Amino acid sequence: MIIAVDGPSASGKGTIARALAQEFGLPYLDTGLLYRAVGYAVARACGDPDKESDALAACGFDDALLDLPDLRSETTGGLASRVSVHPAVREALLERQLAFKNQIGGAVLDGRDIGTVIAPEANAKLFVTASAEARATRRFNEMKAKGEQPSFDNMLADIIKRDARDSGRAAAPLKPAQDADLLDTSEMTIAAAVRQAIMLVRDRIEGR
Ligand code: DC
Repeated sequence: MIIAVDGPSASGKGTIARALAQEFGLPYLDTGLLYRAVGYAVARACGDPDKESDALAACGFDDALLDLPDLRSETTGGLASRVSVHPAVREALLERQLAFKNQIGGAVLDGRDIGTVIAPEANAKLFVTASAEARATRRFNEMKAKGEQPSFDNMLADIIKRDARDSGRAAAPLKPAQDADLLDTSEMTIAAAVRQAIMLVRDRIEGR
């Protein structure tokens, strides 16, 4: 069974995808992490993330990078969004995602183009959204809880900019697959969103 979870940053898709993987006993791949590793590797090599050849050169990153806490930062998220517009980068990361999806028993993958490009045949597809304000508030609270002093306005502006780049690019833009179930988590607690996601997936796989 393959479950595809897509949506913009801070929509809750990662938490939901992990919970689905646990519920259905499937391995889970956060595909955003691959783009984050490329973004991070470009910056570390003093390359230009907007230049396709520099970004492509960073696609052979060392897998140890995937465990770096810095990969989860807002700065790396922005770099990831920039390298992800290049078709050559998407192509370079394709094989790894397909191999993960095709493993025996299936998998849960989350990202931006899972339901549309990586796993159009998925048994269940969720498109998880939330308003930009709700997502900025979540990020703001997460950062404050870590002792940082974020600016809400900057956070909101970054989210809006990243949405526009991810949705507006020509190659595999962020958009719901035609057969995806939409899940708007703006007004939901994490627990409620996870419950709803499990219900939607069950309905799909049981053909209701
Ligand atoms: O899900 P995330 O915030 O970790 O993703 C970081 C960036 O990577 C995102 O802004 C766009 C890109 N990305 C993508 O283009 N396709 C994916 N399947 C996953 C992420």
